[in-house]
Amino acid sequence: MAAAERIAVGIVGAGPAGLLLGHLLQRSGIDSVAVEVRSEEHVVERVRAGVLEQTTVDVLAEAGVGARLAAEGLRHEGLYLAFGGERHRLDLADLTSGRAITVYGQNEIVRDLIAARRAAGGQVIFDAEHVAIAGIDGERPRLQVRAGGVERTFACDYIAGCDGFHGISRASLPASAVRAYEAVHPYTWLGILAQAVPASRELVYCLHEDGFALFSMRTAGITRLYLQCRPDERLDDWPDERIWRELRARLHMHDGWEPNEGPILQKALTGMRSFVIEPMRVGRLFLAGDAAHIVPPTGAKGLNLAVADVWRLARALESFYRTGSQAALESYSDAGLRRAWRAQRFSCWMTALLHRSDEATAFDRQRQLADLDYLVHSRAAMTSLAENYVGFPLE
Ligand code: FAD
Ligand code: PHB
Repeated sequence: MAAAERIAVGIVGAGPAGLLLGHLLQRSGIDSVAVEVRSEEHVVERVRAGVLEQTTVDVLAEAGVGARLAAEGLRHEGLYLAFGGERHRLDLADLTSGRAITVYGQNEIVRDLIAARRAAGGQVIFDAEHVAIAGIDGERPRLQVRAGGVERTFACDYIAGCDGFHGISRASLPASAVRAYEAVHPYTWLGILAQAVPASRELVYCLHEDGFALFSMRTAGITRLYLQCRPDERLDDWPDERIWRELRARLHMHDGWEPNEGPILQKALTGMRSFVIEPMRVGRLFLAGDAAHIVPPTGAKGLNLAVADVWRLARALESFYRTGSQAALESYSDAGLRRAWRAQRFSCWMTALLHRSDEATAFDRQRQLADLDYLVHSRAAMTSLAENYVGFPLE
């Protein structure tokens, strides 16, 4: 068997978190290797998040991977909450002293990061057949990978678990070292990408008596839409015609507004879960992004949290290699958990506000509408939503 190769940081997973970490470390002169079980094509084609907080845009720009985002991203200074057939606009910029969000596909960020890793000669191993980590309590944790039938072992200073919710990093931690908090929300989203010009310049989050619907977009020609459906439903239950019928019913407004329709390019179901693991660091393994926490997508926070984790972890590692101080590495978990719980709180609140529950009584439904009515008529309530939605500064 070949000798172990020395590397500063071993990164498990080449989604947005793993790729950005490798890129930020490389800019600080710290070498890393990222290993990924899926193909490059799969990682780039995976359609997921679309809403970026200002801090996420700033991190990507400062890291030198924001050029296409600046040119093609859609800056949104407001959003709509819709219920009872009416849309109510929240002026995010006015409510937050000029902050805004940017709509730009997560897969485009991944594409930009892979190009940057390539240009810098960074090591990213796709299509791994097997990945394992060992020795996180010792001085030299090991990252083992088999790709193309070749086994390689990396002897690392640190390992970053950026392998999402179903990865091996978190699963490899002893149960006695961590505590998991979890809630499963009884809703599923059916998401589609449609070749249709977006009918609104800004997002529309809608509560209808049949359930939640969300109008979003990717580009000037692509609309992104989501529908709440039951957790036991399958994609086969949703032929295109049924999807459009349901979207029309939920999103049609009294003023005649409704989304434009067009060929459906992609569709997928997403379950909704809240999950947080504490701490985010055990020994020499640091968890970042979905590996450490999952939020329901209603608050559009998951990718933004992943970027915040990675930004903090990169700075902490840079500080360690430059000064020898472990202080920032030691505070990594507490700072990340504080941000994660704040995003969790907001995402659960948005989810409860906007979804129809089978358990809800007639009283609950009237109260939910009263919550929405109060929200869109109270500047204080709108400010609270807006400051959470555009996101808090990085600490
Ligand atoms: P992932 O993107 O899951 O990447 C982890 C990577 O690790 C993957 O490439 C995976 O293949 C790889 N991996 C897994 N196991 C292993 C292993 N054993 N070894 C090596 N590699 C492994 N967030 C927002 O901020 N805004 C939004 O608008 C938003 N909308 C969303 C809509 C939907 C429908 C969904 C599903 C999510 C949405 N999110 C949103 C959440 C966001 O997509 C995630 O939070 C984000 O992908 C997290 O990035 P990550 O790199 O931590 O994890
Ligand atoms: C998206 O455009 O994919 C999107 C927008 C807002 C959300 C979730 C997803 O809350």
